[in-house]
Amino acid sequence: MDKRAIGVFDSGVGGLTVVKQLMKVMPDEKIIYFGDTARVPYGNKSKETVTRFSRQIINFLLTKDVKAVVIACNTVSSNCLDTLKNEYDIPLFGVVTPGATEAANATKNKKVGVIGTLATIRSGAYEKSIKQMDNNIEVYSKPCPLFVPLAEEGFTDCEISTLVAKEYLKDITKYNVDTVLLGCTHYPLLKKCIGEVIGMDIKLIDPAFATAVSVKNYLTQNNMFSTDKNPNHEFYVSDTTPTFDRICEIALKTSFSHIETDIEKY
Ligand code: DGL
Repeated sequence: MDKRAIGVFDSGVGGLTVVKQLMKVMPDEKIIYFGDTARVPYGNKSKETVTRFSRQIINFLLTKDVKAVVIACNTVSSNCLDTLKNEYDIPLFGVVTPGATEAANATKNKKVGVIGTLATIRSGAYEKSIKQMDNNIEVYSKPCPLFVPLAEEGFTDCEISTLVAKEYLKDITKYNVDTVLLGCTHYPLLKKCIGEVIGMDIKLIDPAFATAVSVKNYLTQNNMFSTDKNPNHEFYVSDTTPTFDRICEIALKTSFSHIETDIEKY
């Protein structure tokens, strides 16, 4: 047993959608979340910059004595996971392999759409990982950067989001995919809108649940799980913005207080 917390981080508040699944799958685990609200978005930045930001955040989480770190951010997971794994001794979990595995298992016609930030799509990580599961699967990828500010504005179910979704997703629907992977932490907040645009019969895969299950399996196998009842979660941000409270309400259906931290110190 290990009562230490699990560190979780994202470029901003989108990672709260991953926190939701972690809390559901492992209700006894304490979560320490860091959202880099001062430097979001990561999706249009270089791999070097995003790697540097991630190091600072992991260093910060290590000061909180976390036992493992979940990289909720798809942009970081798809661009920097291997580099970071080589640099740190604690277990680091990304979202790409769990999400890709679930999508590869879900598709019946072997046509999968992947949507994400520019940096995630450019990395080709999801495509590579899906093809490693089954090389016969065709993958159609599309960056959808405007979904991030729409979700942060709380425009999760309105006409503007539907128009943007129609524009971004028109090609993906032409390819007759039966499964679409939501390769960005913000996109599950727009799930209803995306589903209505691409058709309700297309399966939408959010990597968060499969990621939470993979973390739980690891902690169980390594005797690192916690049996703490009512853990006292902690939330940190690099800048205080109204979006934290808004996304907390949408993603977690509750509010949590958060502490501002100078991440450049780490
Ligand atoms: N959280 C990021 C991700 O999952 C999306 C937002 C950003 O561009 O920073 O890729």
